[in-house]
This record gives sequence, C-alpha cells and structure tokens, in this order.
Amino acid sequence: MPGRRLRIVIPGGSGQVGRVLAAYFQERGHHVTVLTRSPYSAPWQTVHWDGKRVGPWVETLKGADICIHLSGKSVHCRYTAKNRKELYDSRIGPTRLLSHVIAGLAEPPRVWMNASTATIYRHALDRDMDEATGEIGGGEMVSARQRAPEKWNWTIQLVKDWEATVFDAPTPRTRKIVLRTSLVFSPAPGSVFAVLSNLVRLGLGGTQGNGRQYVSWMHERDYARAVEFLIEHEEMDGPVNLAAPHPLPNRAFMVALRDAWDMPNGLPAPALLMKIGMFFLRTEPELVLKSRCVVPGKLLDAGFIFDFPEWPQAAEDLVRQWREKW
Ligand SMILES: NC(=O)c1ccc[n+]([C@@H]2O[C@H](COP(=O)([O-])OP(=O)(O)OC[C@H]3O[C@@H](n4cnc5c(N)ncnc54)[C@H](OP(=O)(O)O)[C@@H]3O)[C@@H](O)[C@H]2O)c1
Repeated sequence: MPGRRLRIVIPGGSGQVGRVLAAYFQERGHHVTVLTRSPYSAPWQTVHWDGKRVGPWVETLKGADICIHLSGKSVHCRYTAKNRKELYDSRIGPTRLLSHVIAGLAEPPRVWMNASTATIYRHALDRDMDEATGEIGGGEMVSARQRAPEKWNWTIQLVKDWEATVFDAPTPRTRKIVLRTSLVFSPAPGSVFAVLSNLVRLGLGGTQGNGRQYVSWMHERDYARAVEFLIEHEEMDGPVNLAAPHPLPNRAFMVALRDAWDMPNGLPAPALLMKIGMFFLRTEPELVLKSRCVVPGKLLDAGFIFDFPEWPQAAEDLVRQWREKW
C-alpha cells in the first residue's frame, strides 16, 4: 500500500467511526467515497445510496480497492419490537445488498470489511476472548443462578446473522473481514467518550454496576491504524477483534477516566440505578453491564503495535484533544 493511492468506499461511513476512517485515509492521500442516505459536504466524496436498492452508487465499487461497510441504526435505543426490526434491517439489509452487488461485479473490490461487534462474545469475567478461543455468547450463565438476559441473546443472534451474511456471499475474488469492534473512543460530541466524560465532569462518573464487568475499548487512532494494517496484510481475513490488548474492569476504567479529567470522585451507579437511568435515557443497560473481555489476538499475532495499549494513557490523550478542540 505505501505509495499507492487506494480507492476506498465506505457505505454507512457518515457516523462516528466512519468519519474517523474517512478522515484518516483522506489525509493519507487515498480517494475516499462515503455512501450515505443524506450526502453532505466533506473533504471526501459523498454519494447517495439508500442501502436497499441498486443505484448509480454501484459505479463507486467498480474496480475499487476497499469497501468498508458500517451502516446500522445506533444501538443506543431501547430494544422494543420496532427498534429491534430497525436494528436488524439496517444492518442485514445493506450487507445483503452489498453482497449481491460485489458478487455481480466484473472487477469487485479486493477487500470487503464489514462492521461487527465485540458483543458477539459471551459475558466474560474469567478470561480473555480472542478470535481463536473466545466463546460466542448466547444463553450463558452471568451469575451462579442467572442466565444472560433475553436481550443480550437477541443481540448475539443479530450479530451472528450479520457476519453470516458476509461470509455466505459468493464473492471469491474479494478478501472478507468482519470487524468485531469494541467501544471506539473519539474526542467527538455525541460519542461514548463524550457521554462518559459528561458524567465524570458532573461528578456522576463512579463505578457502574458492580464494577467487575470488563470494558473492551480502543482509541480511535488505533482503530484507523488497525483497519489500515488489515488492508496491508493480505493474509488476514475472517473475524478480527478490534480492541486494545488490555480490557479492564469498569471500576478501574472509570477511575482512569476520572483521573484524566482531574475529578477525584464520582457517584457510583449500582446496577438497579443503572437500569432505571438507562430506561429514562431510552437506552439499554447491556451496553454498560455486559462484561466484554475481548482482546486482539489476530492483530497481535500479525505484529500490530498499538499506540495506545493501556486505557489511562488513551484517556489522557482523549481528554487533551477534547480540551484543545471544544
Ligand atoms: N462506534 C463504536 O464504538 C462501534 C463499536 C462496535 C460496533 N460498531 C458498529 O460499527 C458500525 C459503525 O458504527 P458508528 O458508531 O460509526 O455508527 P453510527 O454513528 O450510528 O453510524 C452508522 C451509519 O449508519 C447509517 N444508518 C443509521 N441508521 C440507519 C438505518 N435505520 N438504516 C440504514 N442506515 C442507517 C447512518 O448513515 P446515513 O444516515 O449517512 O445513511 C449512520 O451514519 C455500526 O454498525 C456499529 O454497530 C461501532
């Protein structure tokens, strides 16, 4: 890749991580096209698609080097029947459409990466989940007497179907990777970093739940660098965990975030309070209470070096950037 200008197409690239990737690759001189339902003005090209039907946007994929598909309704909502349908359709539908389009092209993209999530692994307090030995979740025990909630199982089934849509596609000339992504932290308004930072600065950034659940996280710079690394490493395919190598319990995670903001204390939010708060915020406690102990086995084996392997340094950098920008 060094020296070669790549054509990179990012369907659904208008969101949080899509903007990170588009800016990263644009700055490095590549030609970036974002496919979006609402084209906008940006340093890169934006082209209309509806994620449902074939249209002129297909031209952007002809002979492209890379397709990175990221669309999907945000998971920050209650899992009502209506939202479940939208969460499902907005992921599986566009992925299926891309699979038909890529399969039908005479010159398909060399690489197709598709969003997935680290949430596919089981609630894990006991050991790391890498791609080789990690266990896919669904129905696991979360305590001595309690099984994983139905909503957690529903999410896992969605992610399994999402990944299967990619791997079942008849696209033999295209290398396929699903990005099992942990929480990506960006110093941007509306991001998960912004939400947690607001809590911290209001004095509400204490331990969440019992604080033993692991947080898998990744600094946005490493997220973009890892995607670039996967493009360069032609031997890599299949599911790849995008997470920093050191997930940590929520208690330690929140301490480090408070330290980065110079906030010595934060009101804790035990599980019941979390559940009530999340109800009023119209989102799901799963996002905070499920233990994600996900590690980047394949990236580390292939020699990827993280700029931010440890959360305290990542948090300090994100806070510094936030203070400079906002
Ligand atoms: N951010 C993370 O930390 C993280 C972690 C794990 C997995 N992921 C996954 O990675 C992908 C990208 O994440 P993100 O945080 O950048 O997501 P995001 O900010 O929510 O953006 C995703 C894009 O999907 C499109 N979209 C939203 N609702 C849609 C709908 N109902 N139908 C069709 N398209 C819709 C939107 O594009 P337009 O409105 O421009 O069409 C939106 O910009 C998502 O699938 C997400 O689940 C993200």
